[in-house]
Amino acid sequence: MKIQKFKKRIGLIGFGCVGQGLYDVVEANRHLGWEIGSICVKDKEKPRTLPASAFTYNVQEVLQDTSLDIIAELISDPKEALAILRQTLQQGRTVISANKKVIAENLPELISLQQKYGGVLLYEASVCGSIPVLRTLEAYYGSEPLVEVRGILNGSSNYILSKLHTERGSYQFALEQAQELGFAEADPSLDVEGTDALHKLCILAAHAYGVLVHPDEVLHFGINHISAEAIELAAAFGCRIKLVGSLKAVSTTQVSLQVLPTWIPETDALYGVEAEFNGIEINAQFAGQQFLKGRGAGSHPTGSAVWADITSAVRGYRYTYPKLCASKAAVAMGEEPLTLLLESKDRLSLDLLNLLKATALYQSSDLRQAVVSVEPQQLKLHQDALKRQRVFVAAIPKSIPSKHLFSALTSATAVPA
Ligand SMILES: NC(=O)c1ccc[n+]([C@@H]2O[C@H](COP(=O)([O-])OP(=O)(O)OC[C@H]3O[C@@H](n4cnc5c(N)ncnc54)[C@H](OP(=O)(O)O)[C@@H]3O)[C@@H](O)[C@H]2O)c1
Repeated sequence: MKIQKFKKRIGLIGFGCVGQGLYDVVEANRHLGWEIGSICVKDKEKPRTLPASAFTYNVQEVLQDTSLDIIAELISDPKEALAILRQTLQQGRTVISANKKVIAENLPELISLQQKYGGVLLYEASVCGSIPVLRTLEAYYGSEPLVEVRGILNGSSNYILSKLHTERGSYQFALEQAQELGFAEADPSLDVEGTDALHKLCILAAHAYGVLVHPDEVLHFGINHISAEAIELAAAFGCRIKLVGSLKAVSTTQVSLQVLPTWIPETDALYGVEAEFNGIEINAQFAGQQFLKGRGAGSHPTGSAVWADITSAVRGYRYTYPKLCASKAAVAMGEEPLTLLLESKDRLSLDLLNLLKATALYQSSDLRQAVVSVEPQQLKLHQDALKRQRVFVAAIPKSIPSKHLFSALTSATAVPA
């Protein structure tokens, strides 16, 4: 095969964790013919690893520069990021992004801009950093029905949960450690409230099932109200609590989506996904189960995913959204009741428990913990009320026998309601 020699230039917008990571990867691969042609940042005073002359502070200097072959949008400002994606796609150009929030919230528009103007948007780095899951779903499972796609999609919350299980310290202490090590942002709310995992799940839904769903429509809870007691209870059953995003085929045309802290038994592939790692299990109708595990964030792993998109785009790669084109699936809540642990620092409000219309309810005698059986529809309906009351919610797998569960609530005198 003939080796093609070329010179290609990248317009880089954002030079933070991911932007610097991409820069390092491109520099290490200069022999392949790529270079960073222009870098745009925001803060003129910030100390940089490159001389000031390497930067512009005017994004239009990058966007209007037609000598750049590809744009990498790697900024932390979602509003500006969306404007950049719109402008580049309206110019019919190729743009790579890692911004899961912007992509999840605007995917229908971003797809139609590509169709209308012929531009290309790739965003592998937005879902699980270095794990090539979108490409896998498109290339290998584009024509095969999927039974389920589930995974640990957020490294920060997974790091905190791993710490809580191994060291049994406080949530606050584990969060501070995650922040010190750079695994969690100074404002960790997107991570610990489950929103970051939710954004990734919505992107996965488009590629795995052809579903375009806005994040607001999806059932989701985070780990921010977790307690030492919740960890102890799961551990007593040989389980670890993980924040799991899942997509499940309810019928041939319906898919359920949820992000929930979940008890994971040792036999589950997700059990061994620890610390800042991410893992995704794909269960396909004919291929069976497959598991991908890797670094879900970080400068070089995420920069590497952006680099893979850049070098593929230039060879003509683009998402074809095969499932979206074949048949549009709809979002369903799923009717199978969920067994849940509810836990609060104060007593659980009886009003709230009544609202949930649980088909089974067992409470500890101090009324701080309850095991309930609830339909997903009911849980979604009262999601905001549970969050306002700072209730920790965790899904418990069917493999755990209910009678053992009820008798293991922190009080020995747990009684059925
Ligand atoms: N960090 C990760 O591991 C990771 C993983 C997957 C996806 N992502 C996504 O990748 C994107 C970048 O994340 P990051 O961690 O690299 O963020 P970061 O470290 O906070 O860096 C953000 C960069 O964006 C620049 N920026 C912000 N607003 C701008 C504007 N209006 N115009 C021009 N530049 C602007 C900042 O400029 P200054 O340098 O001047 O402040 C900075 O260089 C985000 O969408 C994030 O969700 C991150």
